Amino acid sequence: MMKLSTIASLLLVGGVASQTICPTELTQSQELTDTLTLYYEVVDNVLCARMESFNEGWLGFGISPSGKRPMHPAEAIMGLPEEGSVLKYDLSAESESGVVPMSDDKQTLMDTNITQADGMTVMTFAKVLDEDQYPLVAGDNTCIYAESTSNAFGFHNNHPHYFVLKLADSSGSDATMKRGFMAIAFGAMAVWFGL
Ligand SMILES: *[C@@H]1O[C@H](CO)[C@@H](O)[C@H](O)[C@H]1NC(C)=O
Repeated sequence: MMKLSTIASLLLVGGVASQTICPTELTQSQELTDTLTLYYEVVDNVLCARMESFNEGWLGFGISPSGKRPMHPAEAIMGLPEEGSVLKYDLSAESESGVVPMSDDKQTLMDTNITQADGMTVMTFAKVLDEDQYPLVAGDNTCIYAESTSNAFGFHNNHPHYFVLKLADSSGSDATMKRGFMAIAFGAMAVWFGL
């Protein structure tokens, strides 16, 4: 008999390690600036996103439901190219000291990556929609972005800006199919691990 806790942790590992949640091609896109585009798609309960900037600098994406300044409290995902980190932060002020990484148990992003090449910065992440204080919902979301021309993190020249992110409801058959596929993948993993 396999222990339930073993199965549970296997499923967890499968969920985090499986890079299959997000498709390679993201179907939606939104131009945020002349040099910054957000590509995205909702798959199941996850926002798959890629920010592409024609600058070399840190990038940010956040949720700030008030829709007006000051932009805090808010949550943000920051990609710091030199650290190679893409993490979730709480924003309590628009200054460096007001930007604090969330605790480890809240660092739930998947498929994170930040790379720089040929004058471009590309950040990817997959984020569970309904988590933390400010969930993302189907329909309109009041979001913020930041695009820097420098890898040194700071808000002096890079104040975040608002935008509305429209998310589709992904409860359709496509999502159901992917859920089924993932269930099969997990099952296959369990077999692979000889459970
Ligand atoms: C990050 O993206 C780059 C460029 O696409 C790729 O070469 C690299 O393997 C990726 N890293 C991870 C950890 O996925």
